[in-house]
Amino acid sequence: VRHFIKFSDLTKDEIHHVFERSAALKAERARGVYLHQHLKGRGVGMIFNKNSTRTRVSFECGITELGGHAVVLSEGQTQFSRGEPISHSARVLSRYLSALVIRTYAQSQLDDLAKYGSIPIINALTDEGHPCQILTDIFTAVEKFPGQPVEKMKMAWIGDGNNMANSWIEAAGVLGFPLTLACPEGYDPDKTVLARAQSANPNVKLVRDPKEAAAGAWAVKTDVWARMGQEGEQKEREKAFKGVYIVDSALMAKADPKAIFMHCLPAHIGEEVTEEVLESLA
Ligand code: NVA
Repeated sequence: VRHFIKFSDLTKDEIHHVFERSAALKAERARGVYLHQHLKGRGVGMIFNKNSTRTRVSFECGITELGGHAVVLSEGQTQFSRGEPISHSARVLSRYLSALVIRTYAQSQLDDLAKYGSIPIINALTDEGHPCQILTDIFTAVEKFPGQPVEKMKMAWIGDGNNMANSWIEAAGVLGFPLTLACPEGYDPDKTVLARAQSANPNVKLVRDPKEAAAGAWAVKTDVWARMGQEGEQKEREKAFKGVYIVDSALMAKADPKAIFMHCLPAHIGEEVTEEVLESLA
């Protein structure tokens, strides 16, 4: 059974295949054609132990359009919060569902579901990573820069070394594009993830100065200063981020003239990004 628990679970070739299939399905969808019913008659579970808007809707619509049914399981309405071993749910869910999408806190929960279950486990965000978001962000870059190889796309990350940053680092390790992250001291991404990516791709760099990271970038990306589960640290974090780790027009001017800005949303306007830069996306 194959899983997508961390970005590096896919090979470079597989990722390019996903992009080709996505482009084809997206083009069909734009014509109102839903030919590919790969999930016809199948149930796909979706567990949300954290809030979700876009990830939930995109998965649920995707599953429906591929002919399947999304079984949405929220923490408060299931038995998950009653402290039973994850193996008990994993085994039974595997007998009904064809795959399981999960958004939760610890990534180890996904590893346990994969260990005790027998269906593909898909990471819809954990404290450690957000691989589906990064996969789709890179697909967007591929769409925005047609004909350009992914390896040439210089990427910049500004801000917290969070779950998004970790998955960007893994992606750079697998796909080989240059990535410079500017994170405040004390808010670095996962050291093991960084070291592993750097051994595969020497152009993965961690700096402190956002201007250094943004210089010549094709895509500038950021995220909130406190991700879900860290909201209580907001005030403390502001001291390290405020006024410096913000993507504004001046920072975008350092990037390549064709550069795009990306944000996984929700955004805190005026904190990590200005309204002007964010609205340039709309
Ligand atoms: N980094 C964010 C992503 C939200 C989609 C978080 O985990 O809060």
